[in-house]
Amino acid sequence: MTTKERVLELIKNEGGNAVSGENIAKTLGISRAAVWKAINSLRKDGYSISAVTNKGYSMDGDYISASEIEAYLTDKSRYTITVLKEIDSTNTYLKSTAEKGEKDGAVVIAEDQTAGRGRLGRRFYSDKGGLYMSILIRPDMPTERSLFITTGTAVAVSRAIEKVCGKKVGIKWVNDIFTHGKKVCGILTEGASDFETGRLQYAVVGIGINVTEPKNKFNEEIADIATAIYEKDEPRGIKNQLTAEVLNQFSEIMKAPDDKTIIDEYRTRSILIGKEVYITENNRMKKVTVVDIDDTAAIILKTDDGEIIKKTSGEISIKVK
Ligand code: BTN
Repeated sequence: MTTKERVLELIKNEGGNAVSGENIAKTLGISRAAVWKAINSLRKDGYSISAVTNKGYSMDGDYISASEIEAYLTDKSRYTITVLKEIDSTNTYLKSTAEKGEKDGAVVIAEDQTAGRGRLGRRFYSDKGGLYMSILIRPDMPTERSLFITTGTAVAVSRAIEKVCGKKVGIKWVNDIFTHGKKVCGILTEGASDFETGRLQYAVVGIGINVTEPKNKFNEEIADIATAIYEKDEPRGIKNQLTAEVLNQFSEIMKAPDDKTIIDEYRTRSILIGKEVYITENNRMKKVTVVDIDDTAAIILKTDDGEIIKKTSGEISIKVK
């Protein structure tokens, strides 16, 4: 860790309380001038740090802190967490480090993304106020079962949002979390397969949660379909708690993401079963009714002609009527 990063962690760890320059200097074994230089540099990076006379420095607004997240983790040795102020995409970053041999359990979190990606090559708007994280796993799993990583993650995130934020959510097959009819989270699972063995080499699971509405509102392209857990002023430190709970639930579920109990929970949380929806495949739109989600996590649809179709791939997009 650089001096600047250590100063940042120290201020974040105070959870909004002020910490004096003298204390920072003493704790880190650096000069007051070095503290001041680090604070100035952090402000230039975009961190909003207040200086209160006779009290010291404090972080304004919510913040993400690796050590605070670690404090809430059930298994403290399971994940290696890196927090970045800004990145193009946490998935892109982690995929490239995975290719270079990064270990199972690496987690990258960003306060905003300049080129966040969604499914089907779509853009994922990633303004400040959200939580953007990617988890690298190297499960011993046949590639064809990788859909269970996405469904298991959807259950993990749903449980975490409900437990930490007390907000009821539902799952829209296959990778979206909804609340009050709007999307609050998207999941993007990417990976690489060993063609000889047919097993996964690694998977990078990207999770984007709209924790608070962006200051300038959602981009007009998504304004009608996106929502956030909090309209404004999320409780201080909530992103750290939420991240840790997502990781705790994720660890449990990834022991056996295809377990019947997880698929049953996924099905129970589904907001689509029984609904009429429009599916788009190969640029063609069709009205269908969602009949079920089966134990392979495939969605079972019925056309107006009574034909039953089953879709396992994420290549279809679904619009609720
Ligand atoms: C979707 O809605 O289609 C999936 C969105 C996934 C967004 C997350 S945010 C963290 C990670 N990095 C990305 O670029 N995408 C995922």
